[in-house]
Amino acid sequence: MQDEVILIERNGRVGLVTLNRPKVMNALNDELMDRLGAALLDLDADDAIGAIVIAGSAKAFAAGADIAAMADWGYSDVYNSNFITRNWETIRRVRKPVIAAVAGLALGGGCELALACDIIVAGRSAKFGLPEIKLGLLPGAGGTQRLPRAIGKAKAMDMCLSARTLDADEADRYGLVARVVDDERLREETMRLASTIASFSAPALMALKECVNRAFEQPLSEGTLFERRELHARFAAADAREGMKAFLDKRKPVFVHR
Ligand code: CAA
Repeated sequence: MQDEVILIERNGRVGLVTLNRPKVMNALNDELMDRLGAALLDLDADDAIGAIVIAGSAKAFAAGADIAAMADWGYSDVYNSNFITRNWETIRRVRKPVIAAVAGLALGGGCELALACDIIVAGRSAKFGLPEIKLGLLPGAGGTQRLPRAIGKAKAMDMCLSARTLDADEADRYGLVARVVDDERLREETMRLASTIASFSAPALMALKECVNRAFEQPLSEGTLFERRELHARFAAADAREGMKAFLDKRKPVFVHR
């Protein structure tokens, strides 16, 4: 178990995936990314799971793509193996909410992995950065696109061009993370948040996530039209019937995730 590059646990309706390459600060090699992608798709397909948490260690969420693995690659290697797209795009296919619990370093691909999640909860030790420029590279797992959308062009350009890192408070102020908590409470608070989310209707959550993501993909008029169609569709769902009835009956709803 200790040799596994990721650890998978199920806790109630929450799936927890922990990155586990401690000797290299959870550097993201193909094996880890392939296994992470497969675990996420498994959890996504599991009716008993309503939300997913990705965590690292106390020292590092992940220090980026594995530089030792990449150092000798040439253009044909990355092009032919479809580097990045091959295993990174899987994260985008996950329909259930995914939360990153970030303590320590989230650098390069580690920061991009967190950015690909729906919510980031940061421990006070968290540090976010896209230092690829120091290697003569550039962020290639969505960083140049997701970071400006998250914190705006000025801060994103500063981080990308100067390799500056943000601490948890700055990341909070700039809107990169949703919440900051003490490191000792990070796992517990993130699991609590995930459990709350997972207690809601799974199809409503999936539709809601899709709606919010549309805000970054298309004009406002198209986005609001999409949102309205999704709202209308909720009226065909048993869970919406139950949710509204439970409110009127002054009781907790019992969702069947249908
Ligand atoms: N890839 C491979 N190995 C890494 C790594 C990475 N991204 N980051 C850290 N490691 C390894 C180190 O080589 C070291 O291994 P050894 O003990 O065998 O020497 C071990 O992890 C511990 O690291 P350090 O001794 O360097 O620890 P530190 O506390 O002094 O520094 C660090 C930690 C700031 C993370 C530093 O290791 C570092 O700068 N790492 C590289 C970060 C980086 O550049 N990330 C971007 C990668 S490129 C990318 O992600 C591109 C993309 O979009 C696809």
